[in-house]
Amino acid sequence: MASSIIISDTQPWKDLKAHVEDIKKTHLRDLLTDDKRCQSMFLEFDDILLDYSRQQATLETIQKLLKLAEAASLKDKINRMYSGEHINSTENRSVLHVALRASRDAVIQSDGKNVVPEVWKVLDNIQEFSERVRNGSWVGATGKALKDVVAIGIGGSFLGPLFVHTALQTDPEAIESARGRQLRFLANVDPIDVARNITGLNPETTLVVVVSKTFTTAETMLNARTLREWISSALGPSAVAKHMVAVSTNLKLVEQFGIDPNNAFAFWDWVGGRYSVCSAVGVLPLSLQYGFSVIEKFLSGASSIDQHFYSQPFESNIPVLLGLLSIWNVSFLGYPARAILPYSQALEKLAPHIQQVSMESNGKGVSIDGVPLPFEAGEIDFGEPGTNGQHSFYQLIHQGRVIPCDFIGVVKSQQPVFLKGEVVSNHDELMSNYFAQPDALAYGKTADQLQKENVSPHLIPHKTFSGNRPSLSLLLPSLNAYNIGQLLAIYEHRIAVEGFIWGINSFDQWGVELGKSLATQVRKQLNASRTKQEPVQGFNFSTTTMLNRYLQASSDIPADLPTSLPKI
Ligand code: F6P
Repeated sequence: MASSIIISDTQPWKDLKAHVEDIKKTHLRDLLTDDKRCQSMFLEFDDILLDYSRQQATLETIQKLLKLAEAASLKDKINRMYSGEHINSTENRSVLHVALRASRDAVIQSDGKNVVPEVWKVLDNIQEFSERVRNGSWVGATGKALKDVVAIGIGGSFLGPLFVHTALQTDPEAIESARGRQLRFLANVDPIDVARNITGLNPETTLVVVVSKTFTTAETMLNARTLREWISSALGPSAVAKHMVAVSTNLKLVEQFGIDPNNAFAFWDWVGGRYSVCSAVGVLPLSLQYGFSVIEKFLSGASSIDQHFYSQPFESNIPVLLGLLSIWNVSFLGYPARAILPYSQALEKLAPHIQQVSMESNGKGVSIDGVPLPFEAGEIDFGEPGTNGQHSFYQLIHQGRVIPCDFIGVVKSQQPVFLKGEVVSNHDELMSNYFAQPDALAYGKTADQLQKENVSPHLIPHKTFSGNRPSLSLLLPSLNAYNIGQLLAIYEHRIAVEGFIWGINSFDQWGVELGKSLATQVRKQLNASRTKQEPVQGFNFSTTTMLNRYLQASSDIPADLPTSLPKI
């Protein structure tokens, strides 16, 4: 996708830069008295309500941001994505995660071919396979049903599925369909993660799903070899065929690893790793745990947002407005971070997932054409569910740095609790905080107010809150599989919008490669030093010193240890 303009050279960008001065003269305390402004900053789609009236923005700001979208050819870029153009130009690939949740009759082309039938072929295979495993007609090597699943994968082959799994774990329908089953995720190459994940599992009743787009990722492949050993040492090498399946774009490597290609579930180059939760990457392990019909609802929720994003005019398009507001906060108001604050424990893995989707997508230093950016793109995402975060880092958000916050609330709890005699239900208690925090951030508290409350003068500076801290609120009707799909797609598209405006390639990730290749050099050195006593060489003073200390301090561990697995 050739985009020779640098967005910061355009007039709308310059207008927004100048507009910052107007906004600096306002305070959210005043902006929130303007009912007309606030009313126009509410949006509703498919039962999701967005309130962005607590952004440091006026109606004029929104108009200027919409002009910026025009200058960035946002509509055209979205259209190119949906029509399968190779917008991931550095990898020469389409970006079609929307096809993963398209309806059976949709037509979405990549390289002149409708990809939707292939998508549904894999989904149908997953449905059939997961039903066989779940109903006990697919059994393990000793004839026992496989009730536990360990999904091995890292990054995009882990974080999205973990997010959805965690969100579904307490949903009544999902609980019912997962009864008697366990789903675990093994991601880190740290052997402690192996230990944690196999503890309490019996190889006879465990299915291992190796998830890797490339099937070359060092961590995943070592973990896969480790669990292959765990299975074959307990049940014999032939058990692998019944206890290990794979999800990958590289079916050749799957076969070389020793997994029957008939037990492999494909996906495609046009699915980016961090956008792959709706492919077999997420759908297979999640269907094994919850049944395909639950996961189909998750896909429908995402698809509903895909259609909204594609067709809704920008001024009432949730992902577009969210993306533009993030650009406003990062590139104009100068706030480099964003806090993701779901008031739902079920969404505890949303922030870790969005960290990858956002920071791996938009953490770039050059434009899509390779021109160094004269501004900083990307933002620092972090978060915790409320109310836990309130007792952790909210101090900084209220009185320290300004961090735009996403408050995510849910109308109906997955697990309501009412106690007789309590003032409100437990969920209302949680939601009281969801409603209170944005106003605390926006209004703050003045010295005047404190004086009127007779606060000791020496404490007044400490108890003053400057306010004027931006946030937005998303309110979901409930948190079922469908709503989880909606939420996922809102964030995916919002992040794409940001990348489209900044003019970067949000779909490659070259920045992760250098560290990987340096680790290869260290790995070779560790092997040579341990097996042939070769001295550490070719590294700088610091790394040499650290490596020597590591090798010397572990020299009592023999290099030729027999195969061993964790013992906890
Ligand atoms: O961390 C880099 C990365 O390539 C991610 O983009 C990806 O999600 C992850 O590694 C895992 O890759 P794979 O699915 O190929 O094992």
